Amino acid sequence: SRALRPIATVAFQNGAKNFSTSPEMQFKVMVAGAAGGIGQPLSLLLKMDPLVSTLALYDLAPFTPGVAADLSHMDTPSKVLGYRGPDELPSAIADAHVVVIPAGVPRKPGMTRDDLFNVNASIVRDLTQCIAVHAPKAMICIITNPVNSMVPIASEVMKKNGVYDPNRIFGVTTLDIVRSRTFIGQINGVDPKTVKIPVIGGHSGVTIIPVLSQCKPAPQIQEQAKIDALTKRIQEAGTEVVKAKAGAGSATLSMGWSGAMFTHSVLRGLKGEENVVECAYVKSDVTEAKYFANPICFGKNGIAKNLGYGQLNAYEQKLLQIAMPELKKNIEKGEKFVK
Ligand code: NAI
Repeated sequence: SRALRPIATVAFQNGAKNFSTSPEMQFKVMVAGAAGGIGQPLSLLLKMDPLVSTLALYDLAPFTPGVAADLSHMDTPSKVLGYRGPDELPSAIADAHVVVIPAGVPRKPGMTRDDLFNVNASIVRDLTQCIAVHAPKAMICIITNPVNSMVPIASEVMKKNGVYDPNRIFGVTTLDIVRSRTFIGQINGVDPKTVKIPVIGGHSGVTIIPVLSQCKPAPQIQEQAKIDALTKRIQEAGTEVVKAKAGAGSATLSMGWSGAMFTHSVLRGLKGEENVVECAYVKSDVTEAKYFANPICFGKNGIAKNLGYGQLNAYEQKLLQIAMPELKKNIEKGEKFVK
């Protein structure tokens, strides 16, 4: 397929030294919402990703070309291009291998993610419509909240255009895993990077289910009350940031970090690497919810294998039971919006 052919790596010169990048496949990544709180640090980290050869930055903000000009001065090989406003959107999207979407409004104190639905639903719908026309094979990574509803919206739009591939649309829940690793790393006194934990379900409140019983190393807490407190802290960690930012938005830096990591894993899959696994919120038949987050193995065509969620203990099964009605409601709301 035209859209997914990698871009050949070119040797480049830097002063007297002549060095070429490894003969790795490289890809065009487009960021929609690139001038925002998440978009900027995300784009910064993507500019450092050796698998990215072209970084297309798109936003409505008038200073978007400035963000692109700024990043373009970084001495990494990838090319950075800026696009502003809907007229330039098709060029930004054309031939993208991966589109990452952090476009939309963030929460203010007292708001739930679902409160963002009315504004963000049409943003994601319209962006996906353009992807359906200009890069129907692109991997679509949705950061915009409420993720639980935005992934169904994007899926319905792709269906309407006859280009739906459930293996290419992801809700980015990586920040929930990143937070879990960090908190458990602190409890156990180990490097958070060495902590492996699946977080399943969705990406809001009770739908966020950290599977602590599968965590490696096991969190060094025994009492149920402490397990409960850690679970709630992971579920409410986003709100912790929203409160601390006191009206100036939600997580942006840790989300930029998480989004760049997730994108890198998608690119590793595209490149043909095996056993690349991340949790993501995707079309699913793992539970009775039509979309569900759990570990996914990436490949050249997006999802290579849905790994399911394995064994849950009684406490986690209860969490799943609590999550299910909320998740289904969020999914239905998204689907209804497009229909
Ligand atoms: P922000 O307001 O700082 O940035 C959003 C950017 O999107 C702005 O630059 C704005 O101009 C742009 N934008 C708005 N409409 C657009 C359109 N139609 N096309 C292109 N760009 C458009 O918000 P922030 O903090 O970057 O958050 C973005 C979204 O990410 C929010 O919905 C937030 O809730 C969500 N989020 C998701 C997380 C996750 O774990 N999945 C974590 C944190 C935030």
